[in-house]
Amino acid sequence: MPGSDDRSWGGDRRGKQDRRGSTDRRTGVDRRAADKGLSEGERRAAEHREADRRTGADRRDEAAWQPIALEMAATGDYDDAALVAAAVDAREHARARFSGFKVGAALETSKGEVVTGCNVENATYGLTMCAERVALYKALSEGRDVFTRVAVVADTEDPTPPCGSCRQLLWEYCGDIEVILANLSDVKRRLRLSQLLPLPFDARLLE
Ligand code: THU
Repeated sequence: MPGSDDRSWGGDRRGKQDRRGSTDRRTGVDRRAADKGLSEGERRAAEHREADRRTGADRRDEAAWQPIALEMAATGDYDDAALVAAAVDAREHARARFSGFKVGAALETSKGEVVTGCNVENATYGLTMCAERVALYKALSEGRDVFTRVAVVADTEDPTPPCGSCRQLLWEYCGDIEVILANLSDVKRRLRLSQLLPLPFDARLLE
């Protein structure tokens, strides 16, 4: 039921922070590279390769369109709980008096930073902005340009996926990122944006 929040994600997040240390903002890519004993330079190169894979220019290369989850997901090196907890917290700020449907989103950058958003409604209804796009616009306007994951949280039993507009905008600026759909207590679904937007319209079609 909207509004009946529990704080179970806060507990998970605290546990994760204790384990990684509160200043460890590395992405899974960085952490895995370090674990493999790579030098700083090699680690940075790996990060840049990963970042390049996600840029708009690279997305014009057909190969880069393929889902990239496999090797990353296989490591199990994903700290979903912290990202979901950030989305849960952001959801608290939702301005959803017209629908009563509060949503939070948390977008992770390639540097491991997290930018959050909530839905913002208004009396004209149609000018409502979804949580995902609030997070994305905040991040872009602050100079972040490479993204790895987005978590979306609503107080629903079934997963709440991004709407069509958000899928389009996330594809434009984030590429084939991982999408984590959660409610206030559980991750419900984890997928790639290409699964939600399998035949995208994007800049390649304008060339
Ligand atoms: N909403 C989001 O913020 N994100 C979604 O993924 C689905 C829908 C918002 C828009 C509106 O404020 C409310 O949820 C009901 O549609």
